[in-house]
Amino acid sequence: MSANPILPPFPTTRLRRLRRTKALRDMVTENHVSAANLIWPVFVTEVAGADVEIPSLPGVQRYTVDGVKAAAERAAKLGIPAICVFPHSAQELRTEGCERAWDPENISNQAIRAIKATVPELMVMTDIALDPYNINGHDGLVRNGEILNDETVDCLVRMAIAQAEAGADILGPSDMMDGRIAAFRAALEKRGHKHVTIMSYAAKFASGFYGPFRDAVGASGRLVGDKKTYQVNPANREEALRCVARDLAEGADMVMVKPGMPYLDICREVRDRFGAPTFAYQVSGEYAMIEGAIRNGWLSRDVVMESLLAFRRAGCDGVLTYFAPEVAEALA
Ligand code: PBG
Repeated sequence: MSANPILPPFPTTRLRRLRRTKALRDMVTENHVSAANLIWPVFVTEVAGADVEIPSLPGVQRYTVDGVKAAAERAAKLGIPAICVFPHSAQELRTEGCERAWDPENISNQAIRAIKATVPELMVMTDIALDPYNINGHDGLVRNGEILNDETVDCLVRMAIAQAEAGADILGPSDMMDGRIAAFRAALEKRGHKHVTIMSYAAKFASGFYGPFRDAVGASGRLVGDKKTYQVNPANREEALRCVARDLAEGADMVMVKPGMPYLDICREVRDRFGAPTFAYQVSGEYAMIEGAIRNGWLSRDVVMESLLAFRRAGCDGVLTYFAPEVAEALA
């Protein structure tokens, strides 16, 4: 590598000059994290009872509808702009046809309405995929072992409309079926939901880092096989970029890369190549690794902020993170 041409040699150049005091370091800091960059993913359960801890996500709870209202008030007070609702549906409501996914009374739609009624200024983001309602644990309908694409998209459109009608501000399709963004956009326009935004999980990889999430939504023992016929191979960069190009062309307002930290190269490239609002999801396994190591005394809590700064440095406008309330509190 050749030397940077604008840098005169040592001792004219002493890069440590700018690191000497906190005031200087602060003045030349290139990237910042603020509460406005955070989206908080929360789990809401329709199984009666109280809020419960999720063992593989220490510090993260599965809320009842009342619990999620309190979480929403907390988020709004901390200046977090959006909360993302993930449903934990009752096991007996999971079917092969996934009909519960577009029921206006499913737990996700109940939570959306409850949050919007409690804190209207807080944006509510959703998850669109069939896995919380599917007896197979897959994001799409399964027939003879195949994950059906077009039939799944028809179901997802109904799911999207039900969420928009419940008051969702941001739809988050995480299913990775082909053609879903165009289908949602057309259906939203037709039904008068022209201001509902779509943040597509555009570059979503078939990752082992989703393990604790599947515990959280009660899908762990259920998944038959794996998600490799619809999620992107972790080895593929060009394919991920094609997914992003396609989703933007079909009408996504914002795009997401997921998981986050192992895929920062993709974040940077998406931001540079497309210039669209770009988000990363610091997923459950990333949270579990960091939080687990901190709780064991192996890492200090500073790594939480460092991990979020890395996303900003990689070009992300924002991050979905289970650390959102803790970080917003620290920044307040
Ligand atoms: C489901 C979905 C998953 C996540 C978000 N939506 C899991 C999966 O695809 O199996 C993962 C989030 C996380 O790990 O925190 N479609």
